[in-house]
Amino acid sequence: MNLVLMGLPGAGKGTQAAKIIEDYAIPHISTGDMFRAAIKDSTPLGQEAKSYMDKGELVPDEVTIGIVRERLAKEDCANGFLLDGFPRTVKQADALEVLLADLNKQIDHVIHIGVNPEKLVPRLTGRRICPTCGATYHVLYNPPKVDGVCDIDGSALVQREDDQEETVRRRLEVNVAQAQPLIDFYAEKGYLRNLDGDRPINEVYSDVQALLGGQ
Ligand code: AP5
Ligand code: ZN
Repeated sequence: MNLVLMGLPGAGKGTQAAKIIEDYAIPHISTGDMFRAAIKDSTPLGQEAKSYMDKGELVPDEVTIGIVRERLAKEDCANGFLLDGFPRTVKQADALEVLLADLNKQIDHVIHIGVNPEKLVPRLTGRRICPTCGATYHVLYNPPKVDGVCDIDGSALVQREDDQEETVRRRLEVNVAQAQPLIDFYAEKGYLRNLDGDRPINEVYSDVQALLGGQ
């Protein structure tokens, strides 16, 4: 199954992706995670990406398309993949069509998690992540069992650098501007599946399961 997960920052893409990849056994391809890994490893890609991410801007299309091209060609994508946070512009969506055609693949569903942008600032400023395993929590909506500590491995939770309020507001502004043309692009192709993301995490996931069917 070839899936694309889209939605504004904080809509719950990463949260739903973690459940989907576990239940449907497909690789999780998050451009944001790939950029953060490159930053951690201090690669040239990481240095370039960081200069945009710190400001809440999008990394240039050419750079982003390049890393997705390499990733999709890997063997573990043979039986499906979950793209999270890519494409984010119509230029990226056009490029993805070409990439997939070259690989003889096509998208099955574009799952769009819709949430009113006003609700997203508190979701992002309250997010905490585990630096060891990448698990995502929220101080109010999805708290760990012990305050500030990962349930899975006991690591101290941290805040993502771009989750400071000022950067969050810029990320939302930038992404809102790109969202509608992308939604129209996929609606026209017949891939778009709209889910209401303004409900508890497990209710949103029930809709995902209803859409994708049993494993
Ligand atoms: P990326 O890491 O993709 O960030 P993003 O798109 O801003 O999305 P987030 O990861 O912030 O949100 P999410 O939707 O995954 O929400 P989550 O599930 O964590 O990208 C980072 C940066 O990289 C970009 O700003 C850009 O610079 C660059 N980049 C990445 N891709 C790019 C591309 N294609 N082109 C160009 N540049 C690119 O949930 C958020 C919080 O809410 C959590 O605390 C969670 O617990 C909570 N939550 C989740 N669901 C619910 C719910 N239903 N109810 C209540 N709380 C919930
Ligand atoms: Zn952890």
